[in-house]
Amino acid sequence: MSLRIANTLGRAAAAAVLALTLAHAAHAAGAEEAAAAASPQAGPPAGFVAPADAKPDDTNAQRSKSQPGNNAPMWRKVHQSGQAPGISQVEGNEAGTLIQSLTSYPGSLYTTAGEAWRQTRNNWIIPYGGALLLLVVVSIGLFYWRVGQLGGHQPDTGRVIERFSAFERTTHAANAVAFTVLAISGIVIAWGQFFLLPVIGATLFGWLTYALKTAHNFAGPIFAVSLVIILLTFVRDNLPRAGDLTWLVKFGGLLSKREVPSHRFNAGEKVVFWIGVFALGLVVVGAGLVLDKVIPGIEYTRATMQIANMVHGVAAALMMALFAGHIYIGTIGMKGAYEGMRSGYVDEGWAKEHHELWYDDIKAGKIPAQRTPDTPLPAPVVKSAR
Ligand code: HEM
Repeated sequence: MSLRIANTLGRAAAAAVLALTLAHAAHAAGAEEAAAAASPQAGPPAGFVAPADAKPDDTNAQRSKSQPGNNAPMWRKVHQSGQAPGISQVEGNEAGTLIQSLTSYPGSLYTTAGEAWRQTRNNWIIPYGGALLLLVVVSIGLFYWRVGQLGGHQPDTGRVIERFSAFERTTHAANAVAFTVLAISGIVIAWGQFFLLPVIGATLFGWLTYALKTAHNFAGPIFAVSLVIILLTFVRDNLPRAGDLTWLVKFGGLLSKREVPSHRFNAGEKVVFWIGVFALGLVVVGAGLVLDKVIPGIEYTRATMQIANMVHGVAAALMMALFAGHIYIGTIGMKGAYEGMRSGYVDEGWAKEHHELWYDDIKAGKIPAQRTPDTPLPAPVVKSAR
């Protein structure tokens, strides 16, 4: 590179640096000037006349004349409207309360109720509910990978027993479908922003979430009704019986070749029934119906909705975690279980292996092998040994 060119470049660079320094100095000076202009001068400008003091009960209109721009009293009232509701042209519940009063919800700071709800939901329910569901799904996956499908130790006899009547299967199916719609739409509404929004973008995510929220609102009442029918239909066979405790202590012997004897439903199913279907089911549905504002005699304030939302969220996350296990066993986790709920019939070998006390009572004639009256049992089918 010739000396000359090097010189020119050097100069150009120096000039650029100089220009930049000057520009920066100018920007700084300009900024300083702007700041000086913006910053309040030591005192009021010459000739300034202080407006009259705002009378405490001045209306906004009056104060905009006496102290133009001073909206502090109004915002103070807005902030305190949780304690002292203001007057608003809007009609209805809490119309005068623009910001709720101070409170704290589990895990939140002591702050305005809306903010407290936001903190409880975003700092606790969403992260920990999500973590619980992930944990359960991963554990089920690991269990299936390590242990595989349960059952299949007793050979088929070809003779079947009716395990679920058509009415029981229909109720269960309505409930299972409604639950699945509620679970999927609920998961997208609560956690979709983390795993779906980054993939499909805001527009599609917005549409999808709106459609799923609508599906959620329709599936809710169906689930509520079918849940009550399921409770009434299966409660008798879920009452505690001798042997249930042994079953629980030995985890049913599910990991061994010899299952602990149980009656029609084993103690694990009874736990799912009383905690999942009864307790959590009624709490989720109850809070959901409050969110739908259909329960009479309740004052539907923002606080009611916030509490119902948190209760609904926590109970739904726990219920989904519990039913993930039920759905796993009821689909691929146990040989023949799904077929029993789909067709209503199980092989005697299956009944003997998984519900021996129930099988014994059928063999002893204490319980009919055919639950649906006036319907003959299907003819025995000889199946090849499994
Ligand atoms: C996709 C979802 C579901 C599947 C695949 C499924 C599958 C099954 C299967 C295969 C059985 C028969 C188990 C046996 O023979 O002992 C069963 C029983 C049962 N299921 Fe489900 N289920 C689902 C969802 C639900 C939901 C959401 C509920 C209630 C909230 C529920 C409540 C029950 C009850 C009460 C029984 C009778 C056993 C008992 O009472 O303990 N299921 N389910």
